[in-house]
Amino acid sequence: MKVGAPQFTYLCELLRKRTGVVIDGSKEYLVVARLMPIVRQRAIPSLDTLIDRIRKGIDPTLERDVLSAMMTHETSFFRDRSPFETLRQQLIPALIERRAAQRQLTFWSAACSTGQEPYSIAILLNEHFRDLLGSWQVRILATDFSETVLTQARAGVFNNLETARGLSPELLQKYFRPLQGKWSISQDCRRLVEFRTLNLNTTWPMMPLCDIVFVRNVMIYFDIATRATLVERIRHVLRPDGALFLGGAESLIGTENGYERLTGVGCSYYRPKPR
Ligand SMILES: C[S@@+](CC[C@H](N)C(=O)[O-])C[C@H]1O[C@@H](n2cnc3c(N)ncnc32)[C@H](O)[C@@H]1O
Repeated sequence: MKVGAPQFTYLCELLRKRTGVVIDGSKEYLVVARLMPIVRQRAIPSLDTLIDRIRKGIDPTLERDVLSAMMTHETSFFRDRSPFETLRQQLIPALIERRAAQRQLTFWSAACSTGQEPYSIAILLNEHFRDLLGSWQVRILATDFSETVLTQARAGVFNNLETARGLSPELLQKYFRPLQGKWSISQDCRRLVEFRTLNLNTTWPMMPLCDIVFVRNVMIYFDIATRATLVERIRHVLRPDGALFLGGAESLIGTENGYERLTGVGCSYYRPKPR
């Protein structure tokens, strides 16, 4: 199925305006492939009709589903390893000492996709800092624009392919139970994670002050101005001694004025400069 050039341009512009995600003309084949399941599910005669319906604003959920389908939701457990090693070896032990009076830790996974990132943090906490979990208030806020991915994230059920990406057999046996040919994450991990819909490109509801923020593999889809605005807003929800992690292919180059770059275990992370 084909999409008309003006309709494709309209869709890309809508995606950019609403979410900050930039898609260029060369990705038309990808967008078509991603939108076809929606066309079929809703028995819409053509892609152009689908886009016309969005333009007319007839179905409010349609726009969100289409924009979400245009995005990349690629993720895996313990993706890139090094941020999680940095948490385990450096940051969490240091935070445990510094927060001994408050006994509170807040993590934010700010584009969490289907949940592997926040659940990896929950598994790490259970595996290495179990004592902390009993007596401290630990919270992992996990947010994404897409309701579709959040539905899977909340369910906490993953297939063999998904669990094979990043989980050792030991962690799988310890923190998941079999469920109808798939794997369901344990209550110990689930109870730490709170999923919410949140568009990083609009005003946010009240956010808690965070100790650790993961904004990984999402800024690559934004233009430089959107990135700069986002990292500045994150600075306001990050504690002064907190840490911001980006994806392996991302950096704050061009947007880093408010942060200093620090060396973790095999990766860098960022700390807000004093205001
Ligand atoms: C490639 S995934 C990254 C998932 C995870 N952070 C990781 O590194 O594995 C990017 C996610 O960003 C989300 N996203 C894109 N634009 C967004 C926006 N404006 N607000 C919130 N989430 C957004 C997408 O829905 C997608 O799930």
